[in-house]
Amino acid sequence: AKKAVLGPLVGAVDQGTSSTRFLVFNSKTAELLSHHQVEIKQEFPREGWVEQDPKEILQSVYECIEKTCEKLGQLNIDISNIKAIGVSNQRETTVVWDKLTGEPLYNAVVWLDLRTQSTVENLSKRIPGNNNFVKSKTGLPLSTYFSAVKLRWLLDNVKKVQKAVEENRALFGTIDSWLIWSLTGGINGGVHCTDVTNASRTMLFNIHSLEWDKELCEFFGIPMEILPNVRSSSEIYGLMKAGALEGVPISGCLGDQSAALVGQMCFQDGQAKNTYGTGCFLLCNTGHKCVFSEHGLLTTVAYKLGRDKPVYYALEGSVAIAGAVIRWLRDNLGIIKSSEEIEKLAKEVGTSYGCYFVPAFSGLYAPYWEPSARGIICGLTQFTNKCHIAFAALEAVCFQTREILDAMNRDCGIPLSHLQVDGGMTSNKILMQLQADILYIPVVKPSMPETTALGAAMAAGAAEGVGVWSLEPEDLSAVTMERFEPQINAEESEIRYSTWKKAVMKSIGWVT
Ligand code: G3P
Repeated sequence: AKKAVLGPLVGAVDQGTSSTRFLVFNSKTAELLSHHQVEIKQEFPREGWVEQDPKEILQSVYECIEKTCEKLGQLNIDISNIKAIGVSNQRETTVVWDKLTGEPLYNAVVWLDLRTQSTVENLSKRIPGNNNFVKSKTGLPLSTYFSAVKLRWLLDNVKKVQKAVEENRALFGTIDSWLIWSLTGGINGGVHCTDVTNASRTMLFNIHSLEWDKELCEFFGIPMEILPNVRSSSEIYGLMKAGALEGVPISGCLGDQSAALVGQMCFQDGQAKNTYGTGCFLLCNTGHKCVFSEHGLLTTVAYKLGRDKPVYYALEGSVAIAGAVIRWLRDNLGIIKSSEEIEKLAKEVGTSYGCYFVPAFSGLYAPYWEPSARGIICGLTQFTNKCHIAFAALEAVCFQTREILDAMNRDCGIPLSHLQVDGGMTSNKILMQLQADILYIPVVKPSMPETTALGAAMAAGAAEGVGVWSLEPEDLSAVTMERFEPQINAEESEIRYSTWKKAVMKSIGWVT
């Protein structure tokens, strides 16, 4: 017999850089009922290049949905209770595909990819008027990070892309667009759309008018007809066309960092969260105002939860490498077999013993925006062992967060009194304690770290025509909080932090 109805359920796809997940929540309590996760391959065809296979990504989404539904079946939960699906995704990663065949025309060029460094340099020389041309419209510095330059590279270098554009067969999208188009039918009527948060990461989107910007498209040489329609983050985009959830509306779409902001209920001006995934992203809600940073932060669209709802903006501190450094220790150095092992190694020594690890694998993002930086491990002695390096890797994640938190405090004027955190790495207790010690403020984490997926589910459940999630705090009764208080003294914390900064200076200018 099927279990008694728990209340309407909402599913969420969380397509991150390292893995894809599908999760199902109870919309009345935010309890996570079941989920499935699949790791995603990353290809490094040349130094600095990072690619993924869009079809593998799509396949992983189907697999996660099917497996989660099976697990729900084993729990006697009827999947017909799933009323909506939200999508959250790694942002900026760029896909171009053929709308007639449904085939991607090249691998996805991942946000971390550095191949466009020379494109960026050439474009910076051509910026019209003043240097603020791009930043004032998009909130972003000209960098390899964002989609416009990746798309420019594809148009310049991939014959298949050029041909498809000429023949009016090409569609561009970030991962959300690729997934929604495919899941809603692909070549058989798939919906080509994105939401305002993902659009705001392309560098083609005007964050004031909330439209694709003609001047920017001209500047980057992007044909506007290949761009997706921009929608709000919470509305019905289309229905699932196949699989166990066929017919269920897809009604939430948010870049993963915006989704986490929603999942942490940071709806007020000044509320902030930090998510530890492949990278690490601290977002502070600035309400309806676009605040421009003086300290290396980005201005980005936080969310717009409904067609007629107002837009919210955020200041963002982006760190390229967080969880990715653990994966690197596993895959490239082989000093751990699984990511969880890092905590055991770090715990064995409880200190880096003067070793500092700056994981600037893709240059440095906020607050430096230094493409010339490369990773370094310094302070080594004959005493240093893999446990110290593991500890230094965790400390690096915390120091990088400290740098963006300092920048945020300077831009906002009112220092954060505590840091709300989430993401896979937050189950690492050593990391959380270190973070509190290095920031010298309490760190607060939800019992259920999948806040990104929760935010996408909330947006989907709250959409007009779905209406099963009210976005009130009482709908999150299943989420409890854990708090980590700083344990070392402020002086010690400052000494460690200033040595870290010395190490950062050594990593800058490594490549020219
Ligand atoms: O901007 C890139 C970001 O969206 C990637 O997130 O969770 O894969 O580190 P994540």
